[in-house]
Amino acid sequence: MHTARNFALGLLAAAAVATASDVEQLKKDTFDDFVKTNDIVLAEFFAPWCGHCKALAPEYEEAATSLKEKDIRLAKIDCTEETELCQQHGVEGYPTLKVFRGLDNVSPYKGPRKAAAITSYMIKQSLPAVSTLTKDTLEEFKKADKVVLVAFFDAADKASNETFSKVADKLRDNYPFGATNDAALAEAEGVTAPAIVLYKEFDEGKAVFTEKFDAEAIEKFTKTAATPLIGEVGPETYSDYMSSGLPLAYIFAETAEERKEISDLLKPVAEAQRGVVNFATIDAKAFGAHAGNLNLKTDKFPAFAIQETVKNQKFPYDQEKAITLEDIKTFVDDFVAGKVDPSIKSEPIPETQEGPVTVVVAKNYNDIVLDDTKDVLLEFYAPWCGHCKALAPKYEELAALYAKSEFKDKVVIAKVDATLNDVPDEVQGFPTIKLFPAGSKSEAVTYSGARTVEDLIKFIAENGKYKASVSEEGEEASAAPAATESTTSEAAKQTEDHDEL
Ligand SMILES: *[C@@H]1O[C@H](CO)[C@@H](O)[C@H](O)[C@H]1NC(C)=O
Repeated sequence: MHTARNFALGLLAAAAVATASDVEQLKKDTFDDFVKTNDIVLAEFFAPWCGHCKALAPEYEEAATSLKEKDIRLAKIDCTEETELCQQHGVEGYPTLKVFRGLDNVSPYKGPRKAAAITSYMIKQSLPAVSTLTKDTLEEFKKADKVVLVAFFDAADKASNETFSKVADKLRDNYPFGATNDAALAEAEGVTAPAIVLYKEFDEGKAVFTEKFDAEAIEKFTKTAATPLIGEVGPETYSDYMSSGLPLAYIFAETAEERKEISDLLKPVAEAQRGVVNFATIDAKAFGAHAGNLNLKTDKFPAFAIQETVKNQKFPYDQEKAITLEDIKTFVDDFVAGKVDPSIKSEPIPETQEGPVTVVVAKNYNDIVLDDTKDVLLEFYAPWCGHCKALAPKYEELAALYAKSEFKDKVVIAKVDATLNDVPDEVQGFPTIKLFPAGSKSEAVTYSGARTVEDLIKFIAENGKYKASVSEEGEEASAAPAATESTTSEAAKQTEDHDEL
């Protein structure tokens, strides 16, 4: 007799089942707490319109449910609503998946985007990063990967244990970490506890760390010792070299034989500069275009160049000269001693500025962009970038509005072709727009709003010294997401004539 009511309850229950989710949706004011109170969290930064995100959603839900009982939590953040939070976490594409162990230990999720794979990856991530080793397992462990690290410390030495575990947690995706407190094993390896031995399949086979255990020192040791004396630059290694903090010396050659020959020749220089300058060969057939980024000609190999990776300065070695041990040694020594000037690529300074948008090149960058009396808005663009082309007419309009306003001598709207001019700014994608305010040029502000004339005017008025606001005529604002195109591989892969790293 209660059929109707039961039926209604049944519907309600079904609806509850359909919407209950084990994925926690986080916002700016809940994110930090959630990450801090859970040992390990996988977070997905997504946008509702993104196709890959939609495909991931059911897989992600399933993984969240199976991982919940293991206290591994899955969360998601809608970046169209939480712009600031996503920016804070360096989100540049969707979906971005990151593993959080607290707020300070964050690593990218590197597994496939399927429920079973997410589950198994996260379970592995939740296990201790350091394997405890014994006499029976040490030999096997040494061969577990190209590079493995083993720490030897006393059972009572809690501090060393803790420090080593901390480094292992951070670098666990890169290398296997093991530890033992068996003094006999340390003796057999020829070290006294506490010590770390890094075993590698290349170069001298192993490297030993014997200083006091300090997380930063161990990390630095690991990075240096795990980098081959002369490695190879390619899509898998490029970002490691760029983030190493050391300059990179490139050996460009078209064949494997030639790369080996020059590597053998330059080995003494690489040895002398170990930990100061990284050395690597690069396949000039596949990545010859990259020579252009180092201000080398792209049709004359073999070639040699050094890139200062922190300031992104280029030091090409004269391609008319032969690559000899003696000359390269002098070149590298001079570079290390600060005696070589970086090469600056620049288009010629325009004789006259034609349109309302001021054209900046490397050679007039300081005069125009760093002019302390003016608020300068600068767009970094690439000729092949579609978003830049879409912006161009609006940017012209913006410049014209300022040019005929009372602020015409105070506000400069400028652009620079960042592929033809070496600029001091770190540019992550195209277009990048920055405002260099008068009087505080070192505090340039990067624009992240929608690319409309209206919003750009607001940005200039809010961040410039002169609070210069102009009124626009009949432009319709649209809040399209301000996508950028990568300066490196992603965009390059889509344009065949750009075979970049
Ligand atoms: C390091 O400390 C952990 C946690 O206390 C312990 O389980 C592990 O056995 C220690 N490692 C060694 C090699 O003593």
